[in-house]
Amino acid sequence: MLSPSDKALVPFVSVDNMMRLVHHVGLETMITRIADAIEADFLRWDAFDKTPRVASHSDVGVIELMPTSDGEMYGFKYVNGHPKNTAEGLQTVTAFGLLADVQSGYPVLLSEMTLLTALRTAAMSALAAKHLAPEGARTMAMIGNGAQSEFQCRAFKAICGVDTVRLYDIDPAATAKCARNLEGSGLTVVSCTSAQEATVGADIITTCTADKQYATILTDNMVGAGVHINAIGGDCPGKTELHKDILHRSDIFVEYPPQTRIEGEIQALADDHPVIELHDVFAGRVTGRTSDKQITLFDSVGFAIEDFSALRTVKTLIDGTAFYDDLDMLADPDDPRDLYGMLHRAK
Ligand SMILES: NC(=O)c1ccc[n+]([C@@H]2O[C@H](COP(=O)([O-])OP(=O)(O)OC[C@H]3O[C@@H](n4cnc5c(N)ncnc54)[C@H](O)[C@@H]3O)[C@@H](O)[C@H]2O)c1
Repeated sequence: MLSPSDKALVPFVSVDNMMRLVHHVGLETMITRIADAIEADFLRWDAFDKTPRVASHSDVGVIELMPTSDGEMYGFKYVNGHPKNTAEGLQTVTAFGLLADVQSGYPVLLSEMTLLTALRTAAMSALAAKHLAPEGARTMAMIGNGAQSEFQCRAFKAICGVDTVRLYDIDPAATAKCARNLEGSGLTVVSCTSAQEATVGADIITTCTADKQYATILTDNMVGAGVHINAIGGDCPGKTELHKDILHRSDIFVEYPPQTRIEGEIQALADDHPVIELHDVFAGRVTGRTSDKQITLFDSVGFAIEDFSALRTVKTLIDGTAFYDDLDMLADPDDPRDLYGMLHRAK
């Protein structure tokens, strides 16, 4: 058996290597690096191919493909969302993704993206809040204490200076897990017994629940003037978290309107309801927060460019390290037109 040539090999970052990489770089540094990459990519918004993600829905969940390209690199992510999975010992969200060279079409990186999605979602949330949250925001309500929650808390600490998180989940075991995991993180953690209690005194409210329905995690009375809402869990048709009245009181910020209108909180509103695109805020073309009374809402659904930014960050970080394996992924016949011969001779 001949060993594969260099042209056959694609760097592959396994879950194990992703964990090693994160510990090597430092979790908060890694989230900050990804947030910087997302901001830089959003600043060259026009360079990217953009399309709403391609979603395949079933009664129990969704499987999605999220492609984009900046003309030099092409990337995509495969991701699922199955809220019933945790009861079966499986995760709600798993993912993997790929970067390829546009000139040759050859993949240059294949990576796990379950951890990376949590890192990039947290990075994107904190990046948006850096531009939108009220001055001096230090306390965040964290509603939904599942797989994504600690990453959100750590990102808001690293990027926005949040020092206190108020946790709530309908499952107290999830809150206990989140509180335990955040011990020693430098955050003051307050465990609450209702969503209402979690929002008391919070400058930022993050909702990160999973339920395949129009849920009402926040009602209007829980949201005071000046608050920034970071709504993560409403990210599919028929799956939202906020009471409609909150939307009418908020200035709504989105990643990519054609996708958010299908999947985000704003699916409950008219198709022409005004929204502000975050790349315009990052570039300074539009002011995000205009007063200390304004309610700002990041209607997060997760957009392909964020995954592209996360993948290119990983690609940079693994260069010259041992945090990847070479995967024999591309057939490389001696004569490029003799694919059959390569197979035939391998007998
Ligand atoms: N916007 C994005 O970019 C993005 C990225 C990744 C995941 N998500 C979404 O974020 C959500 C959370 O993902 P996860 O991986 O942490 O899921 P998870 O299943 O691990 O955690 C969800 C938590 O929400 C809790 N919950 C459900 N209903 C609740 C309610 N009414 N009140 C309080 N808590 C409630 C559950 O008990 C669970 O602990 C999912 O809906 C997922 O689809 C969004």
